[in-house]
Amino acid sequence: MSIQTDNIQRLVERRAKARLGGGEKRIEAQHQKGKLTARERIALLLDEGSFEEYDMFVQHRCTNFGMEKQHTDGDGVVTGCGTIDGRLVYIFAQDFTVSGGSLSKTMSEKICKVMDMAVRNGAPCIGLNDSGGARIQEGIDALAGYGEIFERNILASGVVPQISGIFGPCAGGAVYSPALTDFTLMVKDTSYMFLTGPAVVKSVTGEVVDQEQLGGASVHSTKSGVAHFAASSEEEGLATIKELLSYLPQNNLETAPVRPTQDPYNRVDDTLNDIIPDNPNKAYDMYAVIGSIVDDGRFFEVHKDFAKNIIVGFAHMNGRSVGIVANQPKVLAGVLDINASRKAARFVRFCDAFNIPLVTLVDVPGFLCGTQQEYGAIITNGAKLLYAYGEATVPKVTVSLRKSYGGAHIVMSCKQLRGDINYAWPSANIAVMGADGAVNVLYAKDIKADPEHAAEIFEAKKKEYDDLFSNPYQAARKGYIDDVIEPRNTRFRVIRALEQLAGKKQTVPAKKHDNLPL
Ligand code: HXC
Repeated sequence: MSIQTDNIQRLVERRAKARLGGGEKRIEAQHQKGKLTARERIALLLDEGSFEEYDMFVQHRCTNFGMEKQHTDGDGVVTGCGTIDGRLVYIFAQDFTVSGGSLSKTMSEKICKVMDMAVRNGAPCIGLNDSGGARIQEGIDALAGYGEIFERNILASGVVPQISGIFGPCAGGAVYSPALTDFTLMVKDTSYMFLTGPAVVKSVTGEVVDQEQLGGASVHSTKSGVAHFAASSEEEGLATIKELLSYLPQNNLETAPVRPTQDPYNRVDDTLNDIIPDNPNKAYDMYAVIGSIVDDGRFFEVHKDFAKNIIVGFAHMNGRSVGIVANQPKVLAGVLDINASRKAARFVRFCDAFNIPLVTLVDVPGFLCGTQQEYGAIITNGAKLLYAYGEATVPKVTVSLRKSYGGAHIVMSCKQLRGDINYAWPSANIAVMGADGAVNVLYAKDIKADPEHAAEIFEAKKKEYDDLFSNPYQAARKGYIDDVIEPRNTRFRVIRALEQLAGKKQTVPAKKHDNLPL
């Protein structure tokens, strides 16, 4: 055998060994827990044969606690790039079979390398997390490694899409990297995120909880909103990441890819003319409206199980990717509360950062009031959504379907927040408040002074208010609404508006950065 053949043989063997990570036994243990390995995840996510691996032979440099005798080529993370649907992405996948995927300084260097490349080359960065946190044997070096990653998450924010998949433990300060990224996906029953685990919680606060109750996928996708998606399996989670990417551009200088459709842009839907119930207190399903107006009825929802009184997600309209924000009358009458405001604000800001036009469907009775909301800072949180819409420079098309009252009317992408095209259905009520509330405020004294005719006075004043305000025409007369449209034509009108706005250029005054109400 020649020296070169020998060299090549050694390379092949080293590669094969590196690919086994922590070895067959630990791979088996990973499978026993119902989890895939880092490499299996990458293989499922990327186009077949597209993975280009970097730093396969990197080893940690720790010499504490006997670590100098424990070396695995590649250490506890697999990094590189590849394609998804033919589009370049950078990826890192923590390998739990090597020291529980715990983060060494060299692992952080590997991760930072792909993050830097993602930004330099303008491609999304995907992190698949499955790690016991900072590698204890490395002490401050491991913490410094997290710091390096966080800084890159921050600098990449708004430049390339960043997506975090949580496929196992994610604890301690490690949770802040996913929190800094644009989207976090968790897998039910096998992943969890928390600052400290159940044992520490018990010793500090006395509270007894298990991992799932403390930071499982269902908790974070329904209660905290930390996770945007909760998948039933790793395979489903990886498919969700792929689908998400199909709505996004590669970076902040590009637009999302067009998805050709056979769905006619001028398709009318008569059912929309009848969807608003006669009784203003009756609900209807906003999903039916969204499904009716987007291409092929296909809607990719974000934060599906969190703050369900507002709906956010991506769709295509005549092939172009759009971000949809819609109040949901079926949940809490579509009221805006703290969580709904936070959820929608984050989504609006993402769309604006990545050139995705916003389509807003409004049916909102107002902001939720009461001590719980006030103590939780509904003022600051509501202002987030207001701020997000007001600063957004992407095309903004708004349709007011029914209620559009008070501060909530202004917040939901009104004309004065630089809404581009604002339509209303004939059923829209654009006013300071609903008729009952208004009459009670304005005529309380008259009603009290004449109890015998209280009901008559109330009804007469309500009719006067309804005639004046419970319609879209007061707003339309003043140009706050650009047109009152037939519901059946909504798809066509929104698409036509988006086409007109395709070349929109709008800026904000030069500044170091804004000061979003946090
Ligand atoms: C070094 C670690 C490790 C760590 C796990 N391992 N976590 N090695 N540093 N942080 C090793 C284990 O020793 C074991 O090695 C292997 O990984 C698998 O771990 P197991 O415990 O056998 O697995 P499992 O039972 O599934 O439990 C997984 C786990 C548990 C829940 C993650 O290992 C755990 O609680 N680890 C510590 C978590 C933690 O407190 N991390 C620090 C968080 S603070 P062998 O050789 O036996 O296979 C933090 C600060 C970040 O991260 C700050 C950023 C600013």
